[in-house]
Amino acid sequence: MTAVTLPRPLAEDDDRSRFDCGRESLDPLPATLLGQLAVDKDYQGQRYAASLLVFALKTALHAADMVGSVGVITHPLDDSVRGFYAKWGFADLPFDPRRSMMIRMVDLQRSFADEAGQE
Ligand SMILES: CC(C)(COP(=O)(O)OP(=O)(O)OC[C@H]1O[C@@H](n2cnc3c(N)ncnc32)[C@H](O)[C@@H]1OP(=O)(O)O)[C@@H](O)C(=O)NCCC(=O)NCCS
Repeated sequence: MTAVTLPRPLAEDDDRSRFDCGRESLDPLPATLLGQLAVDKDYQGQRYAASLLVFALKTALHAADMVGSVGVITHPLDDSVRGFYAKWGFADLPFDPRRSMMIRMVDLQRSFADEAGQE
């Protein structure tokens, strides 16, 4: 029977010289992109967006266990909506020309764990 070597994540001191993806990676950290979130005008202000966002963040956290992700990124449509994301802990990514906002998985993990502890 052939011995099987289980895959493992790359370590800092692994020799990567024989790997070539064709170009230097600009962003080596995987993140989860939250696409545009919107609620029909007739239904705004009834906490639908809050429910959708919490569902999306819990799903992203769950998926990060399998595919790896440092956090959830969003590209707010305009300044009027930045406060909405800030309410859930999204912070501005400094120096990003797209003015993205991000929340780290580690912070999501902590806040959902706190929430479960309060129930
Ligand atoms: C932004 C949007 C999704 C919010 O939807 P909503 O259903 O009205 O939001 P909710 O009722 O779930 O609000 C949840 C909380 O967020 C707050 N909030 C909602 N919109 C906000 C905004 N633009 N800025 C700051 N806070 C906001 C609410 O006051 C509420 O606060 P509370 O928890 O203290 O009561 C909705 O206005 C929308 O679809 N806008 C157009 C599309 C858009 O800009 N999407 C974002 C793309 S990045």
